[in-house]
Amino acid sequence: MANSDDFQLRVLVFAASLREGSLNDRLASLAATIVERHGATADRAKMAEFDCPSYDGDLESGEGAPAGAEELHRRLKACDAFIIAAPEYNGSMPGVLKNAIDWVSRFRPQPWTRKHGLLMSASPSMGGGNRGLWALRMPLEHLGADVYPDMFSLARAHEMFDEEGRIREPKLQKWFEGTVDCFLELVEAAKHYRAVKSQWVEFLGEHPNAATERVETAAQPG
Ligand code: FNR
Repeated sequence: MANSDDFQLRVLVFAASLREGSLNDRLASLAATIVERHGATADRAKMAEFDCPSYDGDLESGEGAPAGAEELHRRLKACDAFIIAAPEYNGSMPGVLKNAIDWVSRFRPQPWTRKHGLLMSASPSMGGGNRGLWALRMPLEHLGADVYPDMFSLARAHEMFDEEGRIREPKLQKWFEGTVDCFLELVEAAKHYRAVKSQWVEFLGEHPNAATERVETAAQPG
């Protein structure tokens, strides 16, 4: 029987903005509080920790990955899932984020694979930065991440946070909480499902114990 630590989710949460006072960073903080309330661990990071020089194959072969890529790789490897709050720049994702994704994609094993991701955005615009998230899905799905179907975009974000950092509109706040909670439930289910898949269970749903002993454990998937 796995111990309870094996079932505790660890979620990397960061905003893809380098600036102080970032609206996306505020949304990431709100997401992190919901992650913690759910009983999971939020590894709250800043984009500055993952900032990298522009990807350059010569730099890579000469000096290896930069410190920002090493750090993102390390933090991704240690988590079950990630939440990114990404600003929309000109209808797409910020270059700083795509650059970090490109650097990290060079590690082997490639760490985005099998990670569950929830994407969100905040913008003063009425679109809330949602188009940028569709662009962000593409490299992440290409790299094998399981990107959650729902995405959350906060429009008029410059006037939407209250003093506690919550979304001023109760209906939207509830929707936001529901999105994060449902994402975490899916990640939890997938984590358990992987365990079931690596085991043969004679009667699905039967709790394995010494008396029944009807479970054969195969090697864990890599
Ligand atoms: C923007 N912004 C923006 N907003 C949007 O909804 N759609 C867009 O296409 C763009 N494009 C864009 C390009 C550039 C270069 C900048 C600097 C800004 C506005 C952007 O969403 C706004 O500045 C956010 O507040 C940025 O996110 P942070 O830093 O507050 O998290």
